[in-house]
Amino acid sequence: MKGFYSRLVMACAILFSILLTGLGIVLGQFFPLFADDIELTVRVKYWIFLITILIIAFLLSMIIAAKMMRQYAKPVDEITKKAIQIAKGDYFTRIQTEDPEYDSELANAINTIAVSLQEMSTHQTTEQERLKTLIESMGSGLLTFGRQGFVNLANGVFEKTFGFSKDELVGKTVKEIGLPADIAHLIEEVFMTEKVHEKQVRIQSDSGYSIYMNVYGAPVIGIHGNWLGIIVVMHDITKLIRLEEVRKDFVANVSHELRTPVTSIKGFSETLLDGAMDDPEILKEFLQIIQKESERLHVLIKDLLVLSGAEREGFSLQIAPVHIKPMIDEALKIVLGKLKRKEMKAVVHGSDDIVIQGDESRLMQVMVNLLTNAISYSRELTTITITIEQVDTSVLISIKDQGIGIKQSELPRLFERFYRVDRARSRDSGGTGLGLAIVKHLVEAHHGTVEVESTIGVGSEFRIQLPLQQPH
Ligand SMILES: Nc1ncnc2c1ncn2[C@@H]1O[C@H](COP(=O)(O)OP(=O)(O)OP(=O)(O)O)[C@@H](O)[C@H]1O
Ligand SMILES: [Mg+2]
Repeated sequence: MKGFYSRLVMACAILFSILLTGLGIVLGQFFPLFADDIELTVRVKYWIFLITILIIAFLLSMIIAAKMMRQYAKPVDEITKKAIQIAKGDYFTRIQTEDPEYDSELANAINTIAVSLQEMSTHQTTEQERLKTLIESMGSGLLTFGRQGFVNLANGVFEKTFGFSKDELVGKTVKEIGLPADIAHLIEEVFMTEKVHEKQVRIQSDSGYSIYMNVYGAPVIGIHGNWLGIIVVMHDITKLIRLEEVRKDFVANVSHELRTPVTSIKGFSETLLDGAMDDPEILKEFLQIIQKESERLHVLIKDLLVLSGAEREGFSLQIAPVHIKPMIDEALKIVLGKLKRKEMKAVVHGSDDIVIQGDESRLMQVMVNLLTNAISYSRELTTITITIEQVDTSVLISIKDQGIGIKQSELPRLFERFYRVDRARSRDSGGTGLGLAIVKHLVEAHHGTVEVESTIGVGSEFRIQLPLQQPH
């Protein structure tokens, strides 16, 4: 497109040409240009003279006009150029108003518009970035559909949960994506009813685990009340559901564990009161059973209290230096009776000097629980080997037995409350299934870890790792 300046010059040239031609015709009247009585050579002379004068006048007036117009048109051209640049999105461009030639209200106004647009664009970019970060880091799966029912946005969590890539989602309909039936159904319901729907959905993952999702679908309504599509937010509540299951199991387990000894105590004492106590032998036998069962109750309640104490927020350890080897020797003294009864041996390897920061009585409880297990689940005349070793900034304690061992498939659940591999056997040995749960909690309270390796018929090894220093 031609500039303002060149268009003005062109317009002036045309105007001057018309004016001068007119002037030429008028002046022609005063000169005998067309008079037949005047000699042709004289007339030609007049013609040449007149045309020369007009051309000079045209050129002079064009030079003056061009100079004058340049002064006004050039800035307009420059401002127009800048305005086009701004319109194309280059908000950083400015008109140099320091140059007096360009300093005008129009230039200042355009610069102000550019500044506002730049601010708005920066603000919009920041908002977009913020929204994108929010969508990507919200921890829930997000999927939005446009008015026509095609996906227009999916975040990383959604892609990861369902194993889709962005290309497989954007532009597709619910049916084309192939979402689990419950979720697809909810999305269709939101589309049809234009109302909020919420549902808990169970999804079977490829690895066989169940994932629980809270799916929330809502219509997206614009500020003018027009329907823009729908939004679906999916929140993984598997952990919550599992916790709830654990809680229910725990209550059921506690009730069950309490009921057995209580039923027994109640039954035997009633039988005694009904007359059986007259027989001194039966009396003694029943009283022994009642004592054994009440001891079970006592142990169970004690373990439950330890466990609930360790799980409660605000549980604190009495941190002081703990000499590992002497602490293990003390724990061995506590289980010595059991050890002797089974004619078993316990050997301790490792330095006497390893000292850690910890709660001695809790660590002792950890050791007693592990040693009791090693004894309970081992055959007679076997040996338990305890090894203490310092590795970098932590101490490793291993308790290895030559016992019955644990099946590989049982290992992941071993540290759960009330979990017992062989219920009958464990109950016979007075076990409640809380020992290892307590071990895990107390070790973790010391910022340590506990792991187990076991082979059926060969033995088990429980390894505890504890840091030398407790973080503040
Ligand atoms: N050293 C071991 N060898 C073989 N099995 C073991 C060993 N330690 C634990 N187990 C298995 O793990 C289960 C859970 O152990 P845990 O110590 O938590 O409970 P428990 O010994 O049954 O009862 P308690 O609460 O009295 O300790 C046991 O029932 C047992 O089947
Ligand atoms: Mg035990």
